[in-house]
Amino acid sequence: EAQYEFIIASKPNPTVTLITLNRPKALNALSSPLFHELNHALAQAELDKDVGAVVLTGSEKAFAAGADIKEMKDIEFAEAYGNNFLSHWTQITEMKKPVIAAVSGYALGGGCELAMMCDIILASPTAKFGQPEINLGIIPGAGGTQRLTHALGKSRAMEIILTGKNISALDAEKWGLVSRVVAEGEGEVVKEAIELAKTIASKGRLSVMAAKESVNTSYELGLREGLHFERRLFQSLFATKDQKEGMSAFAEKRKAAFTNQ
Ligand code: CAA
Repeated sequence: EAQYEFIIASKPNPTVTLITLNRPKALNALSSPLFHELNHALAQAELDKDVGAVVLTGSEKAFAAGADIKEMKDIEFAEAYGNNFLSHWTQITEMKKPVIAAVSGYALGGGCELAMMCDIILASPTAKFGQPEINLGIIPGAGGTQRLTHALGKSRAMEIILTGKNISALDAEKWGLVSRVVAEGEGEVVKEAIELAKTIASKGRLSVMAAKESVNTSYELGLREGLHFERRLFQSLFATKDQKEGMSAFAEKRKAAFTNQ
């Protein structure tokens, strides 16, 4: 395992990579060095043939309190624009393997945006989501105005983004921002996320990859193109051994043994 300064990468199970953001003194503020380590760990997980899903988490107090305000406070427009500031944040959205965010405490600004870049969000009852950028004289810069609007609808997204107020775990669940709130207790949300990751990792890798790609397409394209894309991907899976195995196993009343081919 690679050694990092601002994150911890581990494998709680041979099929699952767990990445823990680890800048406790700054509530996991997402500095550039932290992001470079995160991108490295994600690339490793993507390459690891045993790994079928990734869990991304923070601490009990904070998933992440946003982009590092101290690091960016003196940036001028020319530098932000010229160097395409925050472009190093998007690698996680290119992952083929599913990424599950396990959120406890603050997921604010870039922290909320990072969670929303993941495929599934599980929340602890302590989770607090929000886009407080308006209080800093800026707007969300890593997808918040787009993904939050997608998740909550226009009126709620507007209220949250224009006021900077937080969303409780319960509201996040009610409004569909997270898939569920887990039971109270330290480490509970990470445990649940690892279980979920193990379940996903036990499926055929090709169909998981295709399913993720197809769901994401519904995000990015209109319904007509999305349905067309889904149909083609669906048809293409009939070229895989996993499809033959999965369907034969069902007909023979046994558990499928996927070979990811
Ligand atoms: N960047 C840099 N440092 C941060 C930080 C951030 N986003 N969030 C917290 N910290 C630091 C604090 O400065 C403090 O450091 P010191 O001990 O050196 O003073 C330490 O973490 C602990 O924070 P607090 O003392 O503030 O802790 P708290 O419990 O009193 O408050 C909080 C918690 C409400 C989350 C508060 O820290 C806070 O409001 N943080 C900023 C949240 C924010 O505005 N996020 C958006 C950032 S902009 C962005 O993300 C842009 C984008 O779209 C990509």
